[in-house]
Amino acid sequence: MSGIPVLLITANVGSIFEEPGVMLKVWTEEFLSTVAKLDPKFIALHCQEVGGKTYEQSMRHVEDFVRLLMSSEELRLFDKVRVFLDEDFSSAENFTALGNFYFIHESLKDVHIWDFQESIFIPVCEKEVHSGNIESVTTKEKSKFPQDFFPECKWSRKGFLRTRWNISGTVFDLINIHLFHDASNFIAMETFPSVYSKTRRRALEHTLDKFHNDQYQNAPYFVFGDFNFRTDTAGVIKKLTEDTHQSQLSNKGTISKLQFRNNDDNLVLTLGKKEFSYFQHENVFAENSGKWMREYDREMEDFEGRLFEFPIEFVPSYPFEEDITQGSNYMQTRVPAWCDRILLSPTANSLVQNSTSPDAVKYGIIGPTTCMGDHKPVYLHAVLAINAVKELLESSHREFDKNGELLMNPMDKKYNNNNAATITRYIHIKHADSSVKIFRETTV
Ligand SMILES: *[C@@H]1O[C@H](CO)[C@@H](O)[C@H](O)[C@H]1NC(C)=O
Ligand SMILES: *[C@@H]1O[C@H](CO)[C@@H](O)[C@H](O)[C@H]1NC(C)=O
Ligand SMILES: *[C@@H]1O[C@H](CO)[C@@H](O)[C@H](O)[C@H]1NC(C)=O
Repeated sequence: MSGIPVLLITANVGSIFEEPGVMLKVWTEEFLSTVAKLDPKFIALHCQEVGGKTYEQSMRHVEDFVRLLMSSEELRLFDKVRVFLDEDFSSAENFTALGNFYFIHESLKDVHIWDFQESIFIPVCEKEVHSGNIESVTTKEKSKFPQDFFPECKWSRKGFLRTRWNISGTVFDLINIHLFHDASNFIAMETFPSVYSKTRRRALEHTLDKFHNDQYQNAPYFVFGDFNFRTDTAGVIKKLTEDTHQSQLSNKGTISKLQFRNNDDNLVLTLGKKEFSYFQHENVFAENSGKWMREYDREMEDFEGRLFEFPIEFVPSYPFEEDITQGSNYMQTRVPAWCDRILLSPTANSLVQNSTSPDAVKYGIIGPTTCMGDHKPVYLHAVLAINAVKELLESSHREFDKNGELLMNPMDKKYNNNNAATITRYIHIKHADSSVKIFRETTV
C-alpha cells in the first residue's frame, strides 16, 4: 500500500430528518453511490444538525439513518466503525447536534484512535456507536462555544467535535465544526465583513488557538463542517441590481422589504430579512458552477497561511429547496454561499499525496441534481501519505504519553467503568459477520 485513500465529507443534515422517509433514503443512496464510485479505504462523515431542528421528535429517525448506513452493501467491507452522535438535547450547556461517522475498510489493519483522557492511542477494531449523552466517551473531544461568542448571546447548537487518528503510522485530527449563521439579510449587507462573519472568525480563531495550545501534541488537522461562510451580501446584491432603482416597503416604521426594479419597472430583486429572490433565481447562481460569485466568497481570507483549501469548482452548497422534485433549485431566502467546507492545516496539506496534480484530489459536492436537503454535502477525496511521523513531530514540544499508563489496556478500563445509567444494546446488522455493539450512555 502506497497511501491511504480517504473520503472526507461534511453534511448539514438538518432538513433530511424533518420529512423522514423519502429524503433520508435519497440522501443515503447518493452518499453510498459516491462511496462506491470513489472507492476510499477510510471514510469520515461529519454531520451537523443531526436530528434536525425538531430534534426532540426526530432522534429516532437518526437511528434509522445509522442503521441504513451500517447495513448497506457499499459499506459491507468496512469492518471497523466509530460513530459519535451528540444527541442529548436535554443538556442545553453541552448539546451540539454534531455527529461524526468513521468507516474503516478491512484492508486497513493498523488503525488507532486517541483517548483524550488517557493520552494514548488505542487500537480500533469492530464497530462502536456512541449516541445519546456522549460526555463520558473519551475517544472524542467535544465543546460548545462559550456563551459570549453567540450573536445576541442566543444559545444555540454550535461547537466542535474532534477525534485523533493514527492510521498506518500517520497521525492526524479530524474536526467537525458548526459556526454561527446569518440571521438577517439586512444586517448581513450593512458592512463587509458583516457582524456575523466577524463572529464566525472569532469562534474559528478561538478553536484553532485552543487546539494549538492544549495539552496534546500538535497534529496535522482536517477541519470540515458547516462554517456558515457567506458571500459578501452587499457585493452580490450590487452586482445583481446594476441599472435598477430601489423602493422600500415598511411595516410600522421599519423596513420590511427592499425591491429593485429595472427601467421598464419590472421587479428584479426582492430582499427581506429572510427573503432573497432574484428574477432569474434558477439559473444565475448555478451557471458555470457559480464562478462569478467566487470573488464574493471572502471569509477564508482571514485564515490565509493558517488554513488551506483546494480550489472550489462547484456551485454554492446552500440554500437549496427542501423539495424532492427541486434538487438543483436554490431556495429564495439567502444569497447562495459556500457554507460547507473542507479545510486543512499546512501540515495536513503536506500529507496529501500529489496535491498539485489535479487528478489526485477531488473536491466537490454530492448530489448536484438530487435533493439532499438545504445543504449539499461537500467531499474531499485524496490519498494520504503513510508513516508520515515527521509531520507530527515537527512542532513537538510536549510529552506525548502520560508516563506509566502505556501498559494498561484502555479497553478493559473503559468498559468496566460503566455506571448504572449506561445501557448497552446490541443491534443486528444484516451484512456483518458479528452483531454491532451500540453504546448509549443515557436514554434520551
Ligand atoms: C456537560 O459537560 C460538562 C463538561 O464535560 C460536564 O461536566 C457536565 O456534566 C455535562 N452536563 C451534562 C448534563 O451532561
Ligand atoms: C502510530 O502507530 C504506529 C504503528 O503503526 C506507531 O509506530 C507510532 O508510534 C504511532 N504514533 C504515535 C504518535 O503514537
Ligand atoms: C505522484 O506523482 C508521481 C510523479 O508524477 C508518481 O510517480 C506517483 O505514482 C504519484 N503517486 C500517486 C499516489 O498517485
